[in-house]
Amino acid sequence: MLVTTTEMFKKAYNGGYAIGAFNVNNMEIIQGITEAASELKSPLILQVSKGAREYANHTYLVKLVEAAVSLYPDMPIALHLDHGDSFELCKSCIDGGFTSVMIDMSSKSFDENVEVTKKVVEYAHSKGVVVEAELGTLAGIEDDVKVEEGKQSYTDPSTVEEFVDKTHCDSLAIAIGTSHGAYKFKPGTNPKLRFDILEEVSRRIPGFPIVLHGASSVPQEFVEMINKYGGNMPGAIGVPEDQLRHAAELSVCKINIDSDIRLAMTGNIRKYFAEHPDHFDPRQYLKPARAAVKEMVAHKIKNVLGSAGKI
Ligand code: G3H
Ligand code: 13P
Ligand code: ZN
Repeated sequence: MLVTTTEMFKKAYNGGYAIGAFNVNNMEIIQGITEAASELKSPLILQVSKGAREYANHTYLVKLVEAAVSLYPDMPIALHLDHGDSFELCKSCIDGGFTSVMIDMSSKSFDENVEVTKKVVEYAHSKGVVVEAELGTLAGIEDDVKVEEGKQSYTDPSTVEEFVDKTHCDSLAIAIGTSHGAYKFKPGTNPKLRFDILEEVSRRIPGFPIVLHGASSVPQEFVEMINKYGGNMPGAIGVPEDQLRHAAELSVCKINIDSDIRLAMTGNIRKYFAEHPDHFDPRQYLKPARAAVKEMVAHKIKNVLGSAGKI
């Protein structure tokens, strides 16, 4: 059965681990992720962005996720809207079978963020659906909203109690130095998340589940594979895995991963094309791409999230 994240987050918070929230856009991605999570007996969040919904169609994605749910009946899986940018989009996902939605008004004023989030929460809760909100802005691309480098702002811990009290959201995404995409830090610098902000937030709202966006680690083996086989991604750098692990031990209960899926697939498809120039059956090159997603997700569950065996 599809579940909400309530139980998952409670256990993750108390157990010092996090649930992986992986972005899904097609069947092979859903298969790779769910096969890894089911073999490792890990709870799972599958998340769909506005762009994914436009690419694949709401119904296709819901039915594909439902197929995974029926193949793995013992696995708690939540279906989540990533970066909902309006009440209407959230409502459409709530009415259309999602068990969790994010309303992202982080680029708006505090008051507008509170107002829209509160409206989404009231509707979602009346339907048994949970809501993630965001305070602070990450650099990078969140669907249509591009936050330029330098324009991002860390979450101000002094605002979180009022925000949670006023909105009654169920989890909160905060900005502590991560960003979306494959270029998170300048080459040669020493990436450091602001754990002082995370700790201060948790001191003010103890027991409340925190979400980390932009949490891909950009594995260099995929970047090298892409660059070796005709791609051009110099200087792609992600969040160090030990820092993600540390965040998971603290109050971070949900870690969002999309770019690493893209890199795993693209690297392996490029390699396949280079090594088999005469092949043209999509099943041939999607097979190693799907296997790479599975292996990458398994690695995250075991070594970064700590969610193996937690169902
Ligand atoms: O945070 C953004 C996610 O990586 C989703 O990306 O909007 O291109 O589907 P997308
Ligand atoms: P990455 O780009 O680091 O994978 O972040 C994904 C994300 O935050 C989706 O909401
Ligand atoms: Zn995000």
